[in-house]
Amino acid sequence: MKTDLRGKDMVTVQEWTKEELESTLDVADEFKQEWAKERWDHYDALTGRSLFMLFYNTSTRTRNSFEAGINQLGGYPHIMTPDQLQLEHGESARATSKILSRYGHGFAVRVLGAAVDFEYPKGTEIVREYQDGSDVPIYNMQCDKYHPFQTMADLQTVREKKKQIEDLNFTISYAYAPEVRRPASVPHSSILGFSKMGANVTLAHPEGVELDPEIVDQAESNSKKMGGDFDIVHDMEEGFKDADVVYPKHWVSTKVGERGVEEEKEIHDQNTHWMADEEMMSNAKDNAIYMHPLPAKRGYEATEEVMEGPQSVIYDQAENRLHAQKGVMALTMGGRGF
Ligand code: CP
Repeated sequence: MKTDLRGKDMVTVQEWTKEELESTLDVADEFKQEWAKERWDHYDALTGRSLFMLFYNTSTRTRNSFEAGINQLGGYPHIMTPDQLQLEHGESARATSKILSRYGHGFAVRVLGAAVDFEYPKGTEIVREYQDGSDVPIYNMQCDKYHPFQTMADLQTVREKKKQIEDLNFTISYAYAPEVRRPASVPHSSILGFSKMGANVTLAHPEGVELDPEIVDQAESNSKKMGGDFDIVHDMEEGFKDADVVYPKHWVSTKVGERGVEEEKEIHDQNTHWMADEEMMSNAKDNAIYMHPLPAKRGYEATEEVMEGPQSVIYDQAENRLHAQKGVMALTMGGRGF
């Protein structure tokens, strides 16, 4: 059964039902098989359709997987940065997306971190302004609060490697990095997505780098609804214990704007031992998988041995960005055959 998703935005996975996410992951799996077999059954699914992509920040995976994906479905990507638009002359985000909606079929935006002065959740507010004006599906390519397309790829990867998500022990953990850069959008979206799909979620982080309490509440209530566990621990070893999936990555607190970068960095520098090395990995189940959305600070967040080792699925995650995003685009932009 396929759910009718035509016209639906993806700003956060929390606004999608479990059934909608599963239907989309099924289509993503179909695209992955076609890709592996070099079959182009859906080469014309989005012929004549345009996707506008606006980047306030740089990207390797998001930009290129969206660009390749829309091309592979027969559509066309328009890639823009804010300085190429009349935003600089005071035209609003709302008016911009309203106008671009008249020209195309999807509008995607990335805005996070220093681009919004770490004034959490200013990036999300900007995405919501574009959403407010748009008459076509809006895709959040990462803001300071959410990274839904990373989570779609991560859900696809875990389903593929573990054959299930429900009842798995999924640990998302803080990991140290020396720079104050990475927002909490991946851990936020991970705890929302994996709790919604029925995993037992453990969130591990040092005191001082808490996630947004609103997101934690939503994830807890997803878990309650699904009958899964949701735990918060402040010790990395404890977080890794008996995990089927470990996802250690750096993030900065949503309070960084109030604290300032220097005070934030002092908190992180007290936690350099939050690193995924082989000893830390031995706390998880023997067949546990290691995940990271990339880019990573190698030698800080995780050792080279872990990142390139047999438990690592980081390149599968990166590849699945392509397939998962094609699934969302085909279903929400009304692709031929979907
Ligand atoms: N994981 C991720 O979003 O990578 P990019 O920043 O390269 O897009």
